[in-house]
Amino acid sequence: MDLKKKIENRSANIGVIGLGYVGLPLAMEFVRAGFKVTGIDVNTEKVEMINAGNNYIQDVSDNALASAVSDGNLNATTDFAATKKLDSVSICVPTPLKKHKNPDISYIVSAMNEVEKYIHPGMIIILESTTYPGSTRELILPSLETNGFTVGKDFFLCFSPERIDPGNTEYTTQNTPKVIGGITDQCTDMGAAVYGTIVEKVVTVSSPETAEMVKLLENTFRAINIGLANEVAIMCEKLGVDVWEVINAAGTKPFGFMKFSPGPGLGGHCIPIDPHYLSWKLKTLDYDARFIQLAGEINTAMPRHVLKLVTEGLNQQQKALKGSKVLIIGVAYKKDVNDVRESPALDILQLLEESGVKTDYFDPHVESIIWDGSTINSLEKLDGNAVSEFDACIIVTDHSNIDFELIRKHCSLIIDTRNVYHEKTGKNIIRLGVGNHQIN
Ligand SMILES: NC(=O)c1ccc[n+]([C@@H]2O[C@H](COP(=O)([O-])OP(=O)(O)OC[C@H]3O[C@@H](n4cnc5c(N)ncnc54)[C@H](O)[C@@H]3O)[C@@H](O)[C@H]2O)c1
Repeated sequence: MDLKKKIENRSANIGVIGLGYVGLPLAMEFVRAGFKVTGIDVNTEKVEMINAGNNYIQDVSDNALASAVSDGNLNATTDFAATKKLDSVSICVPTPLKKHKNPDISYIVSAMNEVEKYIHPGMIIILESTTYPGSTRELILPSLETNGFTVGKDFFLCFSPERIDPGNTEYTTQNTPKVIGGITDQCTDMGAAVYGTIVEKVVTVSSPETAEMVKLLENTFRAINIGLANEVAIMCEKLGVDVWEVINAAGTKPFGFMKFSPGPGLGGHCIPIDPHYLSWKLKTLDYDARFIQLAGEINTAMPRHVLKLVTEGLNQQQKALKGSKVLIIGVAYKKDVNDVRESPALDILQLLEESGVKTDYFDPHVESIIWDGSTINSLEKLDGNAVSEFDACIIVTDHSNIDFELIRKHCSLIIDTRNVYHEKTGKNIIRLGVGNHQIN
């Protein structure tokens, strides 16, 4: 049967390679659209969990996953031979940075080494992993064409960036437009047909390079604007002005301004990493991406600025940083998620430990973290007695289910990097980006 027809009548077999934060929700969207979906991952534990109907991703519903598996609409495997039967595969493997902030594309290469063994006529391959412009054409296309297949005729190759915002209930996969660019027009057309079944709007662009650049522009835009907000926060501290009041008032302008907030530093798998993919690529073309570099410098210095605020606060109470006890509130990289990848809390923890501070953390979403090779557990619950034992609390993540009022009542010094307390600022609260720290 014609591939387009198979997509339309949902008889096409869909595959997702890499079942993490991006891949598992995507697989579930295809199930919801009425397809049978095969997930492939090298991680046996994840594969076993899925096949047992057990969910491990916050944005996926436990019940929906269990039903998808028991109804036979979702199965997982570590065996890439399953690709033989798939009409379309989306690749969602990690794209981290190497030690010197160069792209690590080894996961894409290793997944593609497997896919190329099983490529068959009519197959659609869509790369979703964030990567530098040129990756789809330079890294993936050549190996697929070695089998004598012609792109756009025998198989279809596209790039479509993942735009998921973990924890966002207003904008989900379905109502966030999906950008897609194929190597040929036929590729774009086939890729758009597949994704048109799961999202309300597909935005086609003229090439995979354009689609790759779209993703990098979006995340570089965020990194640079957060960098600006962070620098303005430091300026406001020096000027004796409240940065949050400034940003809120500026945010009333109905055009030409978009609100970004300062914070303890960048976190997550995207914003701190993606701009480096772009600047690395530009370096190979003999161009320095200066905005990216500057924003990177400002954002990565924020944990150190938080340490400075703790030191100043302790000083005002005639206490030394060394030997003090500090509680970090929230270690996830952002509100209401359980992901600690690249979280600024980890940098702050490191700086505190280096300064001889005894640290603990509380995060209702993160039971434990691996730190310096060993496991550290979150405080089980927050009570007044426990909080009053610490010399300072640092609010790093403002999860909705934390009792900030209890912290305010019982902690002798609070460093608030998220403006949790705004107008309730008291003598014991130092807010990031607010001048004259001892307000009231
Ligand atoms: N997490 C996000 O919010 C987000 C948002 C947009 C884009 N992205 C991008 O999506 C991609 C995936 O990110 P993620 O957060 O889902 O990562 P993740 O680490 O949660 O998941 C990746 C999965 O791929 C598996 N894997 C690794 N190598 C593999 C291989 N060779 N074959 C098959 N499976 C393999 C891993 O076991 C893991 O389960 C990255 O490029 C990331 O930049 C992530």
